[in-house]
Amino acid sequence: MSYPVITLDGPGGAGKGTISRLVAEALGWHLLDSGAIYRLAALSCRRQGVALDNEGRVAELARALDIAFEPEEATTRVLLGGEDVSCAIRTEQAGGDASRVASLPSVRQALLDRQRHFAMSPGLVADGRDMGTVVFPTAALKIFLTASADERAQRRWRQLQEAGIHASLPDLLKEIQTRDARDMERSTSPLVPAEDAIVLDTTSSSIEDVVSHVMSLAQARQ
Ligand code: C5P
Repeated sequence: MSYPVITLDGPGGAGKGTISRLVAEALGWHLLDSGAIYRLAALSCRRQGVALDNEGRVAELARALDIAFEPEEATTRVLLGGEDVSCAIRTEQAGGDASRVASLPSVRQALLDRQRHFAMSPGLVADGRDMGTVVFPTAALKIFLTASADERAQRRWRQLQEAGIHASLPDLLKEIQTRDARDMERSTSPLVPAEDAIVLDTTSSSIEDVVSHVMSLAQARQ
């Protein structure tokens, strides 16, 4: 049985997380935050003392991950082995670690079925880097969201400011550029738009505008 899927891929900070959540809410569909799964795999490695480049051990650990996502108002609680790690997986270090384990082909393979199981009735909005190219290649609607690296660094900086966390804008920009390069240059599931994806540049668009654009594309395909 296959269920309708909308994929939203793109680099970090392009607005995928917020837009995917709002579109899923508007449609009453499930949400897959695939980046969170890579972040959980990396966190689990750190906690168990597994080197992030030990492909065999990281893949084993990824396959055995005990994780849960509990939707709450305007957010999702993320659990690892029953512990709430929603904040722990959102640090800059966790993001960098996630991108390192995500470059390992057997880790990506180990997490494939787990991600596909999120496709349930009445439908799924899947947020990631390879949702439209690898995980859900037959999705009815594929969106690739982009924004300039400068804009993405500024968005991240503002988010951190609001959370009372001091960060350096040049450091954030460097981190974003390093992660983009790693995601785009890896051999397995590199970050590229699917051939049939619609590319939306969000550099100078509001969240509301992008959500309504995606919703109108979704409605046109139903
Ligand atoms: O989207 P988020 O920033 O949470 O993802 C963290 C990292 O996980 C990304 O930088 C990317 O390297 C990796 N990732 C991936 N494939 C996905 C989702 C995330 O490689 N589908």
